[in-house]
Amino acid sequence: MNSKDFVAQLDAEMQQLFAHLGERATLEAESDGKVDIVTLLRLALKSEVEASELAGFWLPTTPEVDAKMILALQCGDEMKHYGMISERLAELGEDAERIDPLADGHSPLYQYLRGLRTTVERIAGGPYASEAIAQVRNTQFVDFCRSVGDDKTAELYAATIQQEEVHHYHLGRDFLIKHCTTPELQELAAAAVRNTLAIADELRSLAEKTTGFHSIPVS
Ligand SMILES: [Fe+2]
Ligand SMILES: [Fe+2]
Repeated sequence: MNSKDFVAQLDAEMQQLFAHLGERATLEAESDGKVDIVTLLRLALKSEVEASELAGFWLPTTPEVDAKMILALQCGDEMKHYGMISERLAELGEDAERIDPLADGHSPLYQYLRGLRTTVERIAGGPYASEAIAQVRNTQFVDFCRSVGDDKTAELYAATIQQEEVHHYHLGRDFLIKHCTTPELQELAAAAVRNTLAIADELRSLAEKTTGFHSIPVS
């Protein structure tokens, strides 16, 4: 299969999975049902710092310059998002300086992604699939913010954070189209996408509903 068709198929597979999600499913899954603005912003801090750390961790061992560009941009953007979310938490009365988003350790998805060795797997699991999940999660979060009258948090996401996550996803997608040119590379990329979808906290509610994705054990 040519790489364009391959990536179009991956996109379709992801969208098919996301179509099963209820209106607030990603928010309920990641917060164990505690859907409120402060809890969700605090959880977002963890996602942002993990995404930034992963991009920085991969950078020196990813030889392709076009991949380094994606990772370096992402590394900076995600910590910028961290700062914006942290400021918003402070406005909402939280002592943002004292929040340690990694107090309970890193997420299973972070542990899985950190172990990926090839560039196509890293870009497939990180900028491509994780950022696609972030888009769905953020769309649900913006709707939730508006539904409870918090237009300021909604706007922070709609105007900046969400647009940059979409940009990361597009960069990942373009990279896969350019590089996933053999059946072997396509197999690696597809497995990384499927594992990412299976492990992500935001999609936990789907694990029971669908049979197409099987979480692999992570240490
Ligand atoms: Fe981000
Ligand atoms: Fe991102």
